[in-house]
Amino acid sequence: MTDASTPPSPGETSFPRSEIRVLLLEGISQTAAEAFRSAGYSRIEEVQGALAGEELRSALEGVHVVGIRSRTQLDESALESARKLVAIGCYCIGTNQVDTAHARRRGVPVFNAPYSNTRSVAELVIAEAIMLLRGVPQKNMSCHRGEWLKSAAGSHEARGKTLGVVGYGHIGSQVGVLAEMLGMRVIYHDVVSRLSLGNAESAGSLEDLLRRSDVVTLHVPELPSTRDLMGARELGSMKDGAVLINASRGQVVDLDVLRDELEHGRLAGAAVDVFPKEPKAAGERFESPLAGLDNVLLTPHIGGSTEEAQAGIGREVTEKLLRYSDDGSTLSAVDFPEVSLPPHTGDARLLHVHENRPGIMSAVTDVIGRSSANIDAQYLQTLGDVGYVVTDVAADRGAARSLMAELRQLEGTLRTRVLF
Ligand code: NAI
Repeated sequence: MTDASTPPSPGETSFPRSEIRVLLLEGISQTAAEAFRSAGYSRIEEVQGALAGEELRSALEGVHVVGIRSRTQLDESALESARKLVAIGCYCIGTNQVDTAHARRRGVPVFNAPYSNTRSVAELVIAEAIMLLRGVPQKNMSCHRGEWLKSAAGSHEARGKTLGVVGYGHIGSQVGVLAEMLGMRVIYHDVVSRLSLGNAESAGSLEDLLRRSDVVTLHVPELPSTRDLMGARELGSMKDGAVLINASRGQVVDLDVLRDELEHGRLAGAAVDVFPKEPKAAGERFESPLAGLDNVLLTPHIGGSTEEAQAGIGREVTEKLLRYSDDGSTLSAVDFPEVSLPPHTGDARLLHVHENRPGIMSAVTDVIGRSSANIDAQYLQTLGDVGYVVTDVAADRGAARSLMAELRQLEGTLRTRVLF
């Protein structure tokens, strides 16, 4: 790997992996450092906590790849101090902590791990469905108070009950598969047409799903269209005695209305993992209209928080960073042109990130066309104000290096790398 800010010295080939500096902050799972090491990267620095301000800026100097979780803010000022930065790994789902637009304009892709914790969420939902159907939350609370409510009334098996999945994506469909293993009937509602897994069936509408389900579980993304998706009308459409689970996003359910439905006993219980307002730090007080209700399970947004998920995230994000570092592939990058490339095996691969403006592609092709290098393959993608073109050329290292130097001079060039 080389980058525009560190042109290779004469005689140097591709930037050696042993010299690529990787900085991993916030106690990222060991699986990340292990994956880098087994790919031949040895300059890996690991920091347990998050860094901020001057400390962060100074830590980023000379770093080629940085890995963070949700607490490190990579804003414009932090990114400007990381002049050699080639890629960013967010070892989590969200990327709000990174100024991705600025990173893109610097030619730096950002990778994350949106799906490594799918199974963790799905397992928690299944556990909660069983607990709610049995009335365990309220029985647990009453035992804590010294009461002994030994009764089968209102306590049900999951077998034979109907589970309604709202949002049949990665998590929703996995919940459906696990629920069928318990003998539940699974129906789902999605805004796009989804392939049914197992015996799951698409419900006619959200309303139809709510009327038929004994357990409703929400797995939709945070969008303007999913805000208060479960408001007074929808909660009122649920079957008497049904239970609701929300491990998706906090603003999807109107919690005041839900509280009314639960207090009056029309709904039998709820499990809620995500809230419209969540504490930002461990010491901050958590408040919710649902607090204090015996028939409600409250958890602090831990649906996807398991050691297995963290290990999976460590592997998934590192794999994406390695694919970009070694091959130039930006598949599944956030807010960056996505180019999926075959492994780099040929003579030289020229990576050129540029401003997306008319004429730049013909200028790139022109530079290569004027040389003696034959183009083996070319891949291009643009996103907003940025374009990314990868050209495999049959050229020796010297010729490839001169081509790269010429491409670097083109107006609108944001970043270049050459892989041998
Ligand atoms: P996904 O993108 O794979 O699936 C979401 C599905 O919802 C898609 O099929 C989409 O078409 C559908 N959808 C969108 N709007 C809809 C609407 N109005 N009605 C019905 N369906 C709609 O997402 P994934 O990975 O399954 O995640 C689902 C949710 O779970 C997300 O909000 C995510 O943030 C959250 N999540 C929560 C975690 C936790 O710790 N509690 C951990 C991981 C994810």
